[in-house]
Amino acid sequence: MKIPHYSKTNLSNVLFTTFWWLSHKISPSLSKKLIVYGIRDGAFADKRVFNKVLGIDVMGHHFKNPIGVAAGLDKRGNVIDGMISLGYGFGEFGSYTLEKEMPLKKVMYLRQDKAILVQSLGYRNPGLRAIIPTLISRRHLPNFIGVNIATSTPTEAENIKQGQHMTYEHEFAIMASKVAPYCDYLVLNFSHPEVELSRLISDRATLLPIVQSVRTAISQSAPIRPPKVVIKLPLDLTNQEVPLVCNTLLEAQVDAVIVGGVQSLSKNSDKFLKDKKYHHIGMLAGKPIKDLSTSLVANIYHNTQGKIPIIACGGVFNGKDAFEKIAAGASLIQIYSAIVFQGPNVVNKINKELAKILREKGFEKLEDAVGCDVK
Ligand SMILES: Cc1cc2nc3c(=O)[nH]c(=O)nc-3n(C[C@H](O)[C@H](O)[C@H](O)COP(=O)(O)O)c2cc1C
Repeated sequence: MKIPHYSKTNLSNVLFTTFWWLSHKISPSLSKKLIVYGIRDGAFADKRVFNKVLGIDVMGHHFKNPIGVAAGLDKRGNVIDGMISLGYGFGEFGSYTLEKEMPLKKVMYLRQDKAILVQSLGYRNPGLRAIIPTLISRRHLPNFIGVNIATSTPTEAENIKQGQHMTYEHEFAIMASKVAPYCDYLVLNFSHPEVELSRLISDRATLLPIVQSVRTAISQSAPIRPPKVVIKLPLDLTNQEVPLVCNTLLEAQVDAVIVGGVQSLSKNSDKFLKDKKYHHIGMLAGKPIKDLSTSLVANIYHNTQGKIPIIACGGVFNGKDAFEKIAAGASLIQIYSAIVFQGPNVVNKINKELAKILREKGFEKLEDAVGCDVK
């Protein structure tokens, strides 16, 4: 795989960025498509921020900065590496399911709320097998990347694959063994609010065997360089569920957790959104989920005594938002909505602002700020 060359700024960068900026005023959906093409072809200017204070060691890897690309943006495997060249610290492909899925998907961009509302059951993706040649072709690159695997059947009883009933344990183990050799971390996705798995996460008897079967699969298919095992949590965990989940995560010795996915909305959720145009049912991402996600980060950090690295995700648009997540206990951060509304170079703005905040608060290393509001 060839990575595009990003120039510091030339005429075509300026023209493309202006065109993207105009398009995003008209249609965020078009803006997202242009981001994908622009990244693939090196059309955005390179504005990378290098600042020592942003470096952090997590999962045995040194990250030059903590901001990564969240799952959902790159299902074809052709954007993440370009985004890392532009300034992201890491990125995640997926989610992928065992078989190709093309459910109807409605994505609404609530500009006033800086939010994205998704109505879809399942994950639109080409299926795990289809992506493997791409993962193989990019494996020589030095970028730290994750692959997010998911199951989207509403219940395990309905989990029929190739005509046979399959347990979650078995399904995750098959998926893990296929992609383990080609990624640095593997995400077991429990975050989809509309599937049973997101509610079973607090059940030790479900979570533990899934993690154990994945570890066994990985040790066989990638014995030399096994990927780290990461769990993506649902955002709507209750206060009763959090300690149960944390105990199991500690027992399972997972390498990190992503906190978390999208928020499930029902009709009466309109009240906290400014945009009244749409029938607000679905899953919400972006600014409105920021505080929910930050308080879950703090809750997980507290209940794991900071022993499991947290990758925070949800509503980060600037350096202040990023600092809040770190102070609540996150070591790394992922973004999605900010990229769509503010363009891919938003990472460099966030990093610049975050470095300034860290210095102003007297932190010499990002690591020293992790959990500083919780301790
Ligand atoms: C259109 C869309 C598609 C997404 N697809 C996935 C996905 O396939 N897998 C996943 O784990 N998360 C997915 N997400 C969730 C994001 O990874 C992230 O958790 C969420 O958007 C919150 O971050 P944000 O507030 O920065 O957008 C998706 C989000 C959006 C808006």
